[in-house]
Amino acid sequence: MALDVFAPWEDPNAKPLIQFQNVTKRFGDFTAIDDLTVDIFEQEFFALLGPSGCGKTTMMRMLAGFETPTEGQILLAGQDIGAVPPNKRATNMMFQSYALFPHLSIWENIAFGLKRDKMPKDQIGERVEEMLRLTRLEKFARRKPHQISGGQRQRVALARSLAKAPKLLLLDEPLGALDKKLRQETQFELMDIQETTGTTFVIVTHDQEEAMTVASRVAVMDHGQIVQVATPDVIYEAPNSTYVADFIGDVNLIAGKADPQGDKLHLHWADGQPALVGSPLAGITKGQDLHYAIRPEKVSISAEKPADAANAIQGEVHDIAYLGNISTYHVQLPGGQIIKAQAANNRRISRRAFTWEDKVWLSWTDTAGVFLER
Ligand SMILES: Nc1ncnc2c1ncn2[C@@H]1O[C@H](COP(=O)(O)OP(=O)(O)O)[C@@H](O)[C@H]1O
Ligand SMILES: [Mg+2]
Repeated sequence: MALDVFAPWEDPNAKPLIQFQNVTKRFGDFTAIDDLTVDIFEQEFFALLGPSGCGKTTMMRMLAGFETPTEGQILLAGQDIGAVPPNKRATNMMFQSYALFPHLSIWENIAFGLKRDKMPKDQIGERVEEMLRLTRLEKFARRKPHQISGGQRQRVALARSLAKAPKLLLLDEPLGALDKKLRQETQFELMDIQETTGTTFVIVTHDQEEAMTVASRVAVMDHGQIVQVATPDVIYEAPNSTYVADFIGDVNLIAGKADPQGDKLHLHWADGQPALVGSPLAGITKGQDLHYAIRPEKVSISAEKPADAANAIQGEVHDIAYLGNISTYHVQLPGGQIIKAQAANNRRISRRAFTWEDKVWLSWTDTAGVFLER
């Protein structure tokens, strides 16, 4: 393991801060969390990503102590926390809909939990000032919540959650109420604060870009299970299933039948079309149903057939989405299937190379996409 890269999950001697061990949570006969096992390490920024209802909040509530597992164990620093009540855990949860006290100043909002815990007065003062500095709210200390912006209120909620110096901070959709620009700025602030304090963060989000931006690792969930847990680049470039490939980012999925050919795997996907060529997948037999997944930005579009591309298919421009920085071409293949190809608009003024109904070639290398079992 390289020393300059933070990757405790690759170190067999690293001790996880949190361990879910075969955790199942049922509500009546409904299984919200299904035999889930995962380790989260100290100082990680760990993101839970998945569609609504997949069990993200339930996982957080079990960590915080508001729910107990029906089966299995949750360990914090090696200790089973099943019997530890929420206020005795070294965790703090910032809820989806956090509420500040409207009649208290920002300063008093941040101090509230410390006063309740009977921290000595001078220490409270120091701690609040430190939190104000950390979240860049010094100037607003005397104001009431209604006298600051939404983004600033968000930072107050964060300062309040961090004031008690929890070992673990749980953030359930913390940026949900912010508009896109503020959200992106706040993501970077969150990362800075996480790094400065060394607190372990677990964040829930349904926004894949947000998860990819902030997280050391992302867990993609589906129906109470973690389908894949890995670094953002691995989740994006080496998804372990069609579900993950489709959930994260934009992807073309082409269904076909496998045909292993030496050190390459071929996929027969349409009559009269050349087989798609890619790197093999272990344990695949001839004729097996597979998906080929390729990201639009890896597909090149050209007027002439490229001489040496491993994969090249012809189609017709069906639609063009101009997004300013990039354009996405929807190219229809003879069989009717649409393949998306993206091109960067790296000149401000240029003639558009292709237009509707143009015949074009789509091409990519033999390592640009991945095969996935169906
Ligand atoms: N207290 C509860 N009683 C019954 N069902 C619940 C309860 N809490 C959550 N659920 C169900 O468990 C599933 C997962 O919920 P949740 O963890 O809130 O999902 P997410 O946060 O991923 O949207 C949902 O189908 C939800 O309806
Ligand atoms: Mg939720």
